[in-house]
Amino acid sequence: MNTAAMEREIYVNTGGGYKVTVGAGLIDRCGELLRPVLTGDTVMLITDTSVAPLYLKRATSSLTNAGFRVVPYVIPAGETSKNMAVITSLLELFANSGLTRSDAVVSLGGGVVGDTAGFAAGVYMRGVAFVQIPTTLLASVDASVGGKTGVDLSAGKNLAGVFHQPKAVLCDVLCLDTLPSEVFADGVAEVIKTGILSGEELFSHCESRIDKSDNIISIIEKCVIYKAKIVEEDERDSGRRKLLNLGHTVGHAIERLSGYTTSHGYAVARGIAVISRAAAALGQLGATELDRIISALEANSLPTTTEYTATELAAAATSDKKRKGGTLTLVMPRGIGDCVLIDYPVDELEGIFSLGLGGESTSAGTSTGAL
Ligand SMILES: NC(=O)c1ccc[n+]([C@@H]2O[C@H](COP(=O)([O-])OP(=O)(O)OC[C@H]3O[C@@H](n4cnc5c(N)ncnc54)[C@H](O)[C@@H]3O)[C@@H](O)[C@H]2O)c1
Ligand SMILES: [Zn+2]
Repeated sequence: MNTAAMEREIYVNTGGGYKVTVGAGLIDRCGELLRPVLTGDTVMLITDTSVAPLYLKRATSSLTNAGFRVVPYVIPAGETSKNMAVITSLLELFANSGLTRSDAVVSLGGGVVGDTAGFAAGVYMRGVAFVQIPTTLLASVDASVGGKTGVDLSAGKNLAGVFHQPKAVLCDVLCLDTLPSEVFADGVAEVIKTGILSGEELFSHCESRIDKSDNIISIIEKCVIYKAKIVEEDERDSGRRKLLNLGHTVGHAIERLSGYTTSHGYAVARGIAVISRAAAALGQLGATELDRIISALEANSLPTTTEYTATELAAAATSDKKRKGGTLTLVMPRGIGDCVLIDYPVDELEGIFSLGLGGESTSAGTSTGAL
């Protein structure tokens, strides 16, 4: 691979603006890449127990060589680390390490480390500089861009958090080589979601199996460009950014019903399949487009069915924090590159999901208007 030639930079114009660099071998260059971006000398380097043995030493040595004082901290791998107790430990560590307002927090890991470290960076001294070095595909194409940070509460996922934009994002695609295949596939589900939202240029890559080969840099770049465009238009998630929830209403319901044993990407894949079948049954999406979406998921070994009933999915979906009043906004696909936000009365959801599961409904389809 001619890595330097393939490196890509995407500028995200939110907050103070920041650059997302996608390339191979960036971890070994993170010190020199971050030196011009960060003003202070101390870096809190947060990672997890799976990533630490693989990449912590290399990131630390690059940062140290660039003149940073590095304080590493390792949290347990997995979603259960996204909690307030871990935030408290991080904040105490920052204070005890003498972190000042001009210093920085760097996350090295997947979405869990990024969301947690980002939240701590966002509230410590009312916000210190934050950098993301995503090591999963999901974090590279989705979680590391856009500034959403947070942790889970017992009442649900991501219920506590802040918007805190990073100063830089470094996606080192060589990290993807050590990802277990299911974790890689989790990220592919978000790539397919972005392909359906953004259009043929990305979706066509999703119709055959996405692997860790050369064109992964270009695939990540396309996803980041799309997400950057959406978050620039709607930084605080009050309008168009909701499009990024394609497949997520059902996906979150499946995650919740499974007690979070179904991973996010697999749940989203099922959610995309259910809402696409529902859109086709409602006459919003053509049969050919539906086939292409289901085939793309299958080509990437992602699931397209769920064992949960429409009643269970609707009940779980309406306890979602994105519910507003008596309606719930669904992202409905109308074609590749053509999705719309539609507000549905909550009591129509079961009928819509039933259509998505292959059943029949007489009540679904009278939307209250597109956003
Ligand atoms: N902030 C956002 O905008 C946003 C968007 C999407 C998802 N998220 C959040 O992201 C989280 C999911 O992120 P994720 O899928 O990256 O999960 P994750 O961070 O739990 O990573 C998955 C697993 O892979 C391991 N891992 C990470 N990098 C590795 C590597 N290079 N090699 C080997 N193992 C590695 C991790 O230790 C973990 O066990 C969820 O909590 C979700 O809510 C946030
Ligand atoms: Zn997602």
